[in-house]
Formats: sequence, C-alpha cells, structure tokens
Amino acid sequence: MTPAMPRPLALITGSSSGIGATFARQLAARGCDLVLVARRKDRLEEQARAIQAAHSVQVEILPADLTRDADLKIVEDRIAAAPNLEFLVNNAGFGIAGLFFSLPLDGQDQMHRLHVLAPMRLTHAALQGMVARRSGNIINVSSVSGFGQNPGSVSYSATKTWMSSFTEGIYMELKSIGSSVRVQALCPGFTYTEFHDTMHFDRKAIPAWMWMSADEVVTTSLRALDRDQLFVIPGWRYRLLVFLMRAFPRSLYHKLSIKYARTTGRARLWGGPPGLRGSSRTRSAQLTASPAGRSPASEQPNRHAESRCRQPPPLPSLPHTPPAESLA
Ligand SMILES: NC(=O)c1ccc[n+]([C@@H]2O[C@H](COP(=O)([O-])OP(=O)(O)OC[C@H]3O[C@@H](n4cnc5c(N)ncnc54)[C@H](OP(=O)(O)O)[C@@H]3O)[C@@H](O)[C@H]2O)c1
Repeated sequence: MTPAMPRPLALITGSSSGIGATFARQLAARGCDLVLVARRKDRLEEQARAIQAAHSVQVEILPADLTRDADLKIVEDRIAAAPNLEFLVNNAGFGIAGLFFSLPLDGQDQMHRLHVLAPMRLTHAALQGMVARRSGNIINVSSVSGFGQNPGSVSYSATKTWMSSFTEGIYMELKSIGSSVRVQALCPGFTYTEFHDTMHFDRKAIPAWMWMSADEVVTTSLRALDRDQLFVIPGWRYRLLVFLMRAFPRSLYHKLSIKYARTTGRARLWGGPPGLRGSSRTRSAQLTASPAGRSPASEQPNRHAESRCRQPPPLPSLPHTPPAESLA
C-alpha cells in the first residue's frame, strides 16, 4: 500500500487577525493544513480552535515576532523542513501615522524588518523547495499605497512599494526558468481589520464605500492566484484609483497628494491619542463584532504604541496641520 499523500500546507504570517486570519480560514476550506504565525499566542490558539472545529485539517501555531532575528530563523527553518508547503502568505504588517522625521526611529526600523527583511527571508526559504518540487504559491500582501507615496506614511508606502517590486522580480525570474510556482502581490485598499485600530485611526474619516471586508480581499486574491495574476487590486474603485495614479504626470500626482494631505490634516484622519487603553481581551471581543459595530479607534490599545503613535511636535512654520496618510 502506498502511504497517503500529506495534505498541502499553508504558512501564513500575521494570522492572528484580519486578512491573515481570513487567509487561514479560506485555505483551510480548500483543504490545507496550516501553520499560523504571529506574536499573540492566545489569538493564534483561538484561530486554531475555530478552524479545526470547522474543517478537517491540522493547525499548528508558531508564535513569533518577525522583527526579531531568532524568531525569524525559527520560521525559516519550519518552512525549509516542510516538503508539502504549498502556500506561503507574507501578510504580517502594521501602519504608522506621522511625519517620518518626527516619529521615533524604532517603529520605522521594525516596519522595515517586518515588511522587507522577513518576507525576503521567508520567500527565499520557501522557493528552495517549491522550485525543486515545481509546485507552490507565494502571496505577498502589499497595498494600494505601494503604487505611490503619502505624506504621513512614508515608510509604509516605501516598504509596500518594495514588496510589490520584489514580487514582480520573483515572478519574472520564475517565468524565465519556466517554473510553475506562482507569486502574487496583493494590493488592498482600506479593509476592515485591526490595522486601523492599532494605529488609532478614525475609520469614520474615510467614506464607507471605500472600505472592503477581509473576506472580499482574500476571495479576490485566491481567485486571481488560480489565474496566475501578478498584481491583484481588490475592488473596482481601487483599480480605477491606481489607473489614475499611474496615468497622471508625477508632478500633478504630487500636487494633488500634498493638497489632499494639507486640507484633510492629521487631526481628522488620525483619530486618537497615543497610549494603551483597555486590554487585549476587550479589544478581541470588540473586534469580533461586525465592522459597523466596532468601537472607536481611540478606545483600542496599540500594539506598537511606543514606537508608532507618539504625537509629533507642532510645526509652526507650516500653514496647515501636517498631513496624514491618504491610503491604506
Ligand atoms: N487593513 C487595511 O486597510 C490594509 C490595506 C492594505 C494593506 N494591508 C496590509 O495587510 C496586512 C495585514 O494587515 P491587516 O489589515 O489584516 O491588519 P491586522 O488585523 O492588524 O493584522 C496584522 C497582523 O500582523 C501581525 N503582526 C504585526 N506585527 C508583527 C510582528 N512583529 N511579528 C509577527 N506578526 C506581526 C499581527 O499579529 P500580532 O499582533 O499577534 O503579532 C496581525 O496578525 C498588512 O501587511 C497590511 O499592511 C492592510
């Protein structure tokens, strides 16, 4: 008797909430065993229990802070030791609101580690086996922000531009050697997750029609992966926005973005003061409610509080409040 084939395995970073947790549920529904990676062990355990109750798959949790070299190495080794790795989703990420020069450097440093170094190392670890097996899929979660720049979230946009460019390069390399391994740069716009709570960003500052659900984003991504589509922008309004961003002369794009940033202002888009409020338990309960029922961002604690959301000093020489990020 031939031994049973192992189920395909999906490793998803940032799967304790939001888009990553949704990828975990949808890939489990497709019959994948899972390795869930994030820092909050309790939330990973919660996800694992819920998924195992709904699907006949195995779920392993791997708590790790991907900004730390030692943790990252453990995840790399887990990937390298998985002969059935079929999906790698590089999804873990966070946002910072504030002018680059006025924010503490730590948060910017962590963001580059998480959005650039971690996906680079994990993609390298995954491709070794995937290319040899001629099978596998890598989804790198970038952002619509990666198609431009935004005053108030410079490092975020820059790291997402890197993510999209890196993915495009890998796509071209794989095609050039005739590999059937698929890669995708997923570029969502505003999506209901914990992302904006962590930033103390007031969702009401953005019109309701601009928001998408994590389910819509992930469904679009997995459908596009079946078609081997490289850049995936969920939602027609974001595809239109990206089309216009690319069609405008760069100087006009700069003028419009700067004007938008000046007229909206930080206070309107960045909803709350820094600091930790509430416990992760209350936050978790609030966030399992429907998006409409979410608590205001200012009531949420901040996982990256110290490095991310210190209020920058006022800039008396500028005619307007410093601008904040204009895209997710
Ligand atoms: N929501 C949006 O509007 C939007 C739009 C465009 C792109 N995106 C991108 O989508 C991705 C997922 O974000 P989301 O919207 O789902 O937000 P989210 O709900 O806040 O999820 C972020 C995930 O990243 C994990 N994470 C953060 N720092 C980490 C670290 N140092 N090590 C390991 N894991 C870490 C978090 O888990 P722990 O806190 O437990 O570690 C969490 O699971 C991000 O890359 C984000 O840039 C989001």
